[in-house]
Amino acid sequence: MAKSSTTYVCSDCGQAEPRWMGQCPGCQAWSTLVEGRVSAPAGGRGAPGAGRAAAGRAAAARVLPLRDVIAARVPRLHTGIGELDRVLGGGIVPGSLVLLGGSPGIGKSTLTNMALGHLAASGHTTLYVSGEESAQQIRLRAERLESPACRALDVPVLAETDLETVLATMETLRPDVIVVDSVQTLHAAELSGAPGSVGQVREVAARIMQVAKAASVAVLLVGHVTKEGSLAGPRVLEHLVDCVLQFEGERERTYRTLRALKNRFGSTNEAGVFEMRSDGLVEVLDASARFVGEATRKAGSVVLASMEGTRPLLVEVQALVSSSELVPPRRVVNGIDRNRLALVLAVLGRHAGVGCGTADVFVNVVGGVRVDEPGADLAVALAVASAQRNVPLGGEAPMLPVAAFGEVGLTGELRSVGHSDRRLEEAAKFGLCQVIHPAGAATLRQALAGALGEAGRAARAA
Ligand SMILES: Nc1ncnc2c1ncn2[C@@H]1O[C@H](COP(=O)(O)OP(=O)(O)OP(=O)(O)O)[C@@H](O)[C@H]1O
Ligand SMILES: [Mg+2]
Repeated sequence: MAKSSTTYVCSDCGQAEPRWMGQCPGCQAWSTLVEGRVSAPAGGRGAPGAGRAAAGRAAAARVLPLRDVIAARVPRLHTGIGELDRVLGGGIVPGSLVLLGGSPGIGKSTLTNMALGHLAASGHTTLYVSGEESAQQIRLRAERLESPACRALDVPVLAETDLETVLATMETLRPDVIVVDSVQTLHAAELSGAPGSVGQVREVAARIMQVAKAASVAVLLVGHVTKEGSLAGPRVLEHLVDCVLQFEGERERTYRTLRALKNRFGSTNEAGVFEMRSDGLVEVLDASARFVGEATRKAGSVVLASMEGTRPLLVEVQALVSSSELVPPRRVVNGIDRNRLALVLAVLGRHAGVGCGTADVFVNVVGGVRVDEPGADLAVALAVASAQRNVPLGGEAPMLPVAAFGEVGLTGELRSVGHSDRRLEEAAKFGLCQVIHPAGAATLRQALAGALGEAGRAARAA
């Protein structure tokens, strides 16, 4: 029988050491030694691989052309939460491993409780493993979520942090779907590292995966991620799991977005929008209508016609430009990339006559939505220019908000982005007749002239 021992392996150069050290003796890197487990054949001492050498070469495996491989079409498990199913590519694939990451308090437990409740209501066997909350706490949440479609109170719960107990329960019950909340709280007794350390998290996930694939149990692993994504855990699991979902938004805001960062069984372009309510997370299917309805139409506001995967979404982008006491001035963003704002400000200053040099610039995508596409550039540029000139886009008192989309090039030109027709259709659906986009204006300067009227023409002349 194989016995196992622990070793510490440098994650940079692969050097193995019998005990933990702050600095790797191999490559001199600091804090790179990670605890791992090695199995050695019984009675065998020495380097890994010695056992195989003693036993001779392994027999060659038989290989098959893919045509002859029998792949049964197993139907996906529908969680009953349309947005979650869509992001997963049409539901959970039996036996797959899905990692759901998100910052604390964002609603990971709520979403997974709801998914299991829906699966339980449709006759699937489930198990909710929690290393963070007691069964009583989980029940209180489940009471909020319970409905005829979501039998959250019927879901069996195991409040446990010992990995062996969790694996044994999984193998015995063999549920269709299991949630492990969270992967950082489970503890593998063979490793001395604290729960949540890189070695522990990797071991826990690998062992769960072995059992899940063998018993065809679909697993939803919940993982905590800090805003920087730096916490030990989820990042090291991304290669291991089939699907990585990121639940993002701000705790104090209503809207949360679910995105696939990796999906072996579907597109990573999809995103779902949810709203946190007292009875759980509610899918927001009319997000565009809400954001357009709430748009302020004041100086510094524009509606961005963006794409969330294959779905168009209208969101309000707001900017504020104010004089600054600080050197260098502040550049504060919420919902867009900070570097993207720097690029847009540079192009505005150099090619469109709108300089914000010594002023503070704040840009916010309303509702806690995050936009991660170059198509947002033009909307950001228009919002900043409108704020800087203190002139609303579309005239002094626009009846309807102005919409925009398009990429801003470094030479001041506007570049087209994908799905223009769908973005325009979505804007038209909500009556937004003034849409500024690359097909109507070749340069950022022209776009500003069209959108800001007199103030824009002043920019053109500058
Ligand atoms: N009664 C309620 N009404 C509305 N929202 C609530 C209610 N109770 C909790 N919430 C919301 O649910 C959020 C917590 O949800 P949940 O426990 O699912 O988050 P989590 O991501 O699992 O958090 P953690 O990282 O602590 O495990 C809170 O931040 C709060 O916004
Ligand atoms: Mg939780």
